[in-house]
Amino acid sequence: MSPRDHISVAAPATVANLTVGFDCLGLALERPLERLDLKRTDTPGVTIKEILGASLPMDPAKNVSSVAAQSVLKTLGVEWGVELTIHKAVLPGSGIGSSAASAASAAFGVAALAGADLKPHELLPLALDGEQVASGARHADNVAPALFGGLCLCTPDGRIDHLPAPDWHLTVVHPQTVIKTAEARAVLPYHVAMKDALHQMAQLGHFVHCCHTGDAMEAAFALEDVLAEPHRIPLQPHFREVQSAAMNAGARAGGISGSGPSSYWISFDKDTANDIGQAISTVFLQHGLDHHVHVGSIAERGAHIIEA
Ligand code: HSE
Repeated sequence: MSPRDHISVAAPATVANLTVGFDCLGLALERPLERLDLKRTDTPGVTIKEILGASLPMDPAKNVSSVAAQSVLKTLGVEWGVELTIHKAVLPGSGIGSSAASAASAAFGVAALAGADLKPHELLPLALDGEQVASGARHADNVAPALFGGLCLCTPDGRIDHLPAPDWHLTVVHPQTVIKTAEARAVLPYHVAMKDALHQMAQLGHFVHCCHTGDAMEAAFALEDVLAEPHRIPLQPHFREVQSAAMNAGARAGGISGSGPSSYWISFDKDTANDIGQAISTVFLQHGLDHHVHVGSIAERGAHIIEA
């Protein structure tokens, strides 16, 4: 990559946890995609020119994008700075990786602006510096797929295993309410029972096995969570009704996306995926709750340059 004076990049929304892999599993969605414009400045450091689409901190020390950008500048040791124009399309508190899309686009964008070829294990911790500002923890299950695309199994210390992605259709429904990740983490227990840990370990192992054998149906059936989801369901708007509507419309599995309020549902053809979206829409309309529906597959592409 050659250095540039300005660049526009995009990073995808993501579904973290995928029910079976709390804090260690996540996938990239085809849409929504978040855009970030970066301009090189002579003054060192990061400035935020504008944030479109959401109300977020303009203070570079408190903003996810600028913190991730600053970490990359520091690592590269450059003497110039960067000005950011942030176009929020993945909305904060949505459960589809808003802060990860910001952190990934900023980390990837500054590296691309500098023409630096940072390796995944080098880029991930820098993007996580940004993610930590929003969620209060260094979980990589949104940031890794937002940066690298596909289905990622990852550890907090930055090891990423790309899993072969099952051939699923995904219906993601985002009710227009906000659940802050930090608050959804606060309801989780500090300790878990050994029998639950063993069950979860076996389910995750089975899921990984099914990805490698290409058994998309069995991989969907492995999606079970006894650790986090039961504690978070009370926070989710009308979750049991949404779940019934999705399963009756043909979903084979699904659950809370990240820490919610979005949910994701798996099917095996596009028509069923659309039917699931329609069925969940009906539930939210009955409750007068505005919402967005996204139907697609697992995106192979993570953060990337938007060519003019
Ligand atoms: N793994 C994180 C959590 C994802 O569930 O708290 C947040 O989107």
